[in-house]
Amino acid sequence: MTVIRSVVLGCGSYLPRQVLTNAELASRVDTSDEWIVQRTGIRQRHIAAEGEFTSHLAINAARAALADAGIDAQAIDLIVLATSTPDNTFPATAVAVQSGLGINHGAAFDLQAVCSGFVFALATADNFLRAGAFKRALVIGAETFSRILDWNDRGTCVLFGDGAGALVIEAQEQPGELSDRGILTSHLRSDGRHKAKLYVDGGPSSTQQVGHLRMEGREVFKHAVGMITDVIVDAFKASGTTAEDIDWFIPHQANKRIIDASAHKLHIAPQKVVLTVDMHGNTSAASIPLAMSVAVKDGRVKKGDLVLLEAMGGGFTWGSVLLRW
Ligand code: ACO
Repeated sequence: MTVIRSVVLGCGSYLPRQVLTNAELASRVDTSDEWIVQRTGIRQRHIAAEGEFTSHLAINAARAALADAGIDAQAIDLIVLATSTPDNTFPATAVAVQSGLGINHGAAFDLQAVCSGFVFALATADNFLRAGAFKRALVIGAETFSRILDWNDRGTCVLFGDGAGALVIEAQEQPGELSDRGILTSHLRSDGRHKAKLYVDGGPSSTQQVGHLRMEGREVFKHAVGMITDVIVDAFKASGTTAEDIDWFIPHQANKRIIDASAHKLHIAPQKVVLTVDMHGNTSAASIPLAMSVAVKDGRVKKGDLVLLEAMGGGFTWGSVLLRW
């Protein structure tokens, strides 16, 4: 029996021009390249220029994804944009992207699940496509986390960066087998009991200020590996696959130690892990599509490969997506 699946047509990304190295950070706060690399694996991050907004990064990434897919923007009828750093409180940054691309049909909205945003956005778009509500979606993760960092807090300001990545997916009939192309299974979780462990201390309804990111780093670390592995085991069970079947593991790029520990616990071979945290830092919802773009461009991820995505972030929220490229 055939099924509808959301098949990847193309992906793209965009990084702001300015690079901020660990050495430069060490001249601003009491830290060192050695501490940051050892604890996180991060060597540099990109920072958006003054006047460069999340929507600008997102539009550039979307254009790159459309070019990679070889389709015109007019073919898109759904835009789901994951971000925690929107241009404005409202309207959604997704509508700025929609108008920037010259699209005025279909629907565009933002989705907020912090670092898990891209996984949540992809699962959401997939459900709309499989239900027949839309035909082709742009799923975007875009962030300017540099704007919500406390640049005097060395515990957080060294971790994050700016950037955007996008994926074009299309509803296609597939045979309904494990060898199908497209999204095979997705699993989303949240647990608001942890909401004070990673949050921004401001907002329109509470302080009327944008606020700054606050984090209990050790607490996040403590929960991350367990949550990530649980939701990946769910993906394995639902699809009848194992770590052996996975061609590429593209995790949220928060911290090399979290990624290594998760891969180790799941028996995913290190050579299958796509790592960009060293070059991009943690770009929250943008990190997975940014990493994906790197691995597609350098020829690692190819048509037919089984790709496992996972993310965990503020809320806490966490999730996995298993797809065949
Ligand atoms: N440079 C130098 N020293 C630092 C820095 C820094 N940038 N930041 C903290 N320290 C110091 C602390 O002050 C502390 O000093 P003290 O012992 O004198 O008090 C010492 O280093 C240890 O601090 P911890 O916070 O306990 O350090 P830890 O080993 O836990 O590493 C880190 C901190 C890297 C944040 C770690 O907890 C971590 O990776 N947590 C996961 C958080 C994460 O990745 N968040 C991303 C967002 S969530 C997500 O995307 C999944």
